[in-house]
Order: sequence, then structure tokens, then C-alpha cells
Amino acid sequence: MNERDSEIMAQSLAEHGFVETMDMDHADIVILNTCSIRAKAEQKVMSLLGQLRIKKNKHPKMQICVAGCVAQQEGIDLTRRFPHINLVVGTQHIYQLPSLLSRSLQQVKIVTNLSNSYEIPQFIPNFSLDEENQLQTNNFKQIPHKKFVTIMQGCNNYCSYCVVPYTRGREVSRPAADILQEITALVKDGVREITLLGQNVNSYGQTNSVTQNASPLTFAALLKEVALIEGIRRLRFTTSNPKDLSEELMACFQEVDILCPHFHLPVQSGSNRILQKMNRKYSVEEYLDRVESLRRYSPNIALGTDMIIGFPGETDADFEKTMDLLETVRYHGSFSFKYSDRPGTRSADFSDKVPEEIKKERLSRFQKRQDAISLEQNRKYVGQKLEVMIERNDAKAVNGRSPSNHIVHIEGVVSGHSGDLVLVEINHAGKHSLKGRIVV
Ligand code: 5AD
Ligand code: SF4
Repeated sequence: MNERDSEIMAQSLAEHGFVETMDMDHADIVILNTCSIRAKAEQKVMSLLGQLRIKKNKHPKMQICVAGCVAQQEGIDLTRRFPHINLVVGTQHIYQLPSLLSRSLQQVKIVTNLSNSYEIPQFIPNFSLDEENQLQTNNFKQIPHKKFVTIMQGCNNYCSYCVVPYTRGREVSRPAADILQEITALVKDGVREITLLGQNVNSYGQTNSVTQNASPLTFAALLKEVALIEGIRRLRFTTSNPKDLSEELMACFQEVDILCPHFHLPVQSGSNRILQKMNRKYSVEEYLDRVESLRRYSPNIALGTDMIIGFPGETDADFEKTMDLLETVRYHGSFSFKYSDRPGTRSADFSDKVPEEIKKERLSRFQKRQDAISLEQNRKYVGQKLEVMIERNDAKAVNGRSPSNHIVHIEGVVSGHSGDLVLVEINHAGKHSLKGRIVV
């Protein structure tokens, strides 16, 4: 979601004549698009803001803007703590960035109204690809044939550890017509892979969203509509809360040709007791039922997950259940994090916190086992021919993505451009990537 927001900010500024630079020392404007999902992400922002104070001393005209979830969460307190900040932009105001910046350039300190606006403005990026498939408007590092499209924002689930409902606000779905129009425009411009984005895409358009934006389409129905747009070669989506995962959506993995066989389904813990304390509203058994259904619809689907290690009250026995779940599901990959307190969340007030040392030990054991399982899973691809969409083809590297979303390094001379589909015979598997040669 943040990556997509960065893209929106970069593109709208480029359209207003700003030129992007990766050289922070000499930039006139520095924008930090921040994340506060875990304490570590927020600490990085604070440390970067400290460094920027020194840079600004050398380059006093530098404008410093903080956007994203830390901006939303801290608001005016940020400018008190770091007086060198010129502009604080809440998560729902990034669309006004160019006009806010032009005001802050006139030396006005601005903190946007941080309330929810319950509206996602239609934003169709205006860019075109040249013959080499390179973006012309700016040098923002992106892969031109792949785009994220936001279908909803916010979340109403209030998992007890999670700051998102507070920083991103209540759930609101974009009208289906806007989404389809945006994707049609992107595909016309040469985009070939679309990832639909939302904190919990399964509840897209449901009545618990802000009503004026409720959609008659379910997420599965939206997915099918998107798949009909001519020119899209690959479709993905993220993220789903297992509690809302419908049969209709799981069946899409069988019914919708271009939907890639890759599913990120965050479980967070393998212990029912902890899941309950997390307010996740599903049990391990229900989760496993869904994994089984998914594999029935799409036998080779690559599964990924998120796991929180050391949630308050997690005992050795709870953690062993998490390790057991790894063995049962055998994820292709996972993101795992030590639990950290986030401001305003319920679990921040839980008393039975797990000591840092134990969290560290458990995380390291978990990640070691996951790496071994990833390698075992990836070895199954050796000898297979996979359709790979090229992402990079230059002197330094040639690689692309398989339908399962693995990075595939391609050996030998390759003539294709970013976005081209080639058939690659896999000859080597690592824990995070595959390697192979093009076959015809
Ligand atoms: N502590 C640790 N991990 C967290 N996540 C969300 N909140 C926290 C927290 N307070 C993790 C979850 C989520 C992912 C994006 O970040 O696993 O799925
Ligand atoms: Fe956070 Fe996801 Fe839970 Fe929403 S569903 S509160 S975004 S963890």
C-alpha cells in the first residue's frame, strides 16, 4: 500500500513539474513515506529525521515532508519533536501533495487535517512507455509492466496488535467502475500485470464498508470483471484475512485463467489461544480447511503467510503449535516478525509480554525451519518449464517472475524486454529464488 502511495506521490509531483532525484543531500524536497506497522519501521523514520536535521543545516532551503502512517499517527507532535519538518501529510491526503507542497514552499508549516475523508479520489497516472518499455515521466524505480491498483483502504477488523485501523482509517471500497477504468488505462499504456490492493480485499464492497461506497460486486466478482479487460496477462491480489475468505474467491484460482497461483494468507499464529487474543476470529482448524480447499482448486498454488512471534502470553507450547503449523502447511515462504507494541492497540496494554531474548530465539528457530521448507518446496520446480515475465534485462542482471511469484534468474543471452513472457526451464532452486535457461 505504501509503495503504491509513493508511486502516486511521485507521479503527481512529476506532472506538476517536479523532477525526481535519488540524491538526498542535494534534494530541495525530501518526502518520507512512512510505515508504522511495527516499532522497527517507526524507529527508522525517527533516525532518518535526525539525519535530515544535519542535512538541512547544510542546505537550509530543503523542505522536509513526512507522509504515511507515522505522519497520520503522530500528527503535530512530529513537528514539535522535529521542528525542521515543513509538511506532515496524513494517509488520506496524499492526493493533495502538489498543492500542499507549493504552500509549504512559501515557508508555511503545514499539518494536514488528519481526519478520515472516506473517499479515494480517482487517480489515473498519466504516463507512457517508450519503445524500450521505460517510464518516461521520472526515474522512480519501478517495473513498468507491473502496477498496483488500490481497490480499498483502511480496515475494520481491529486485530488486537494492529495499528492499521487507526492509521489508515475505517474500511472504504472504491467504486468498481473507477477501478476498472484505472486498470483499462494502465493496460492501454502497456501494463501487463496488475495486483489489486487492499488491507482485507475479501470484504471489498461489503456493507461494513462506508455505505456510500458499498459495491454490488463481491471481490470475486470484481476479480472476474478485471480479468476480462483485454491485454492483462497476469492478475494478483493482496491481502486477505482468512476469516473472510469465501469459497467463491477460492474457486477463482481454478476459474480465472490469468489469476496467478500464488496466495499470501497471513495466519499470524498456530495457536488457537493466541489467535483468540489477537482477535483474528478464526481457528487453526478453519484456516487449514481453507488451505485444503485452495489446494483442491489449484493444486500447485504457492502459499505464503505472515507470522507474529512472541505475542503477549505466547508460551513455549503455543510457539510449538506455530512450528507445527509450518510443517502442516509447508509455506513456500513467510514473513515473520517479533511482536512489538503499537500505540493505541489493545495488545499494547496486555500485561504478559514475552521477553525480548525469548522472542529472538523463537524467531530465529522459526525462520531457520521456514528457510529449509522454502528450499524443499522450491526444489520441486527443478526440471519444470515455467512461464516467466521478464522484469530486468541489463548488463547486471536478467530476471523475472514465475506465476508463483518466485524471482527467476535467467542464464544466457536473453533478447526480451521487461514485460515479455518467456519459457524457462528451471535448473536450480534457492530458498528465495529459482534459476534456469530459456527454452522454446
Ligand atoms: N508486531 C509485530 N508484527 C506485526 N504485524 C502487524 N502488527 C504487528 C505488531 N504489532 C505484522 C503482521 C501483519 C504484517 C503486515 O505485520 O504479521 O500481517
Ligand atoms: Fe491489521 Fe490486517 Fe487485522 Fe486489519 S486484518 S487489523 S490490517 S492485521
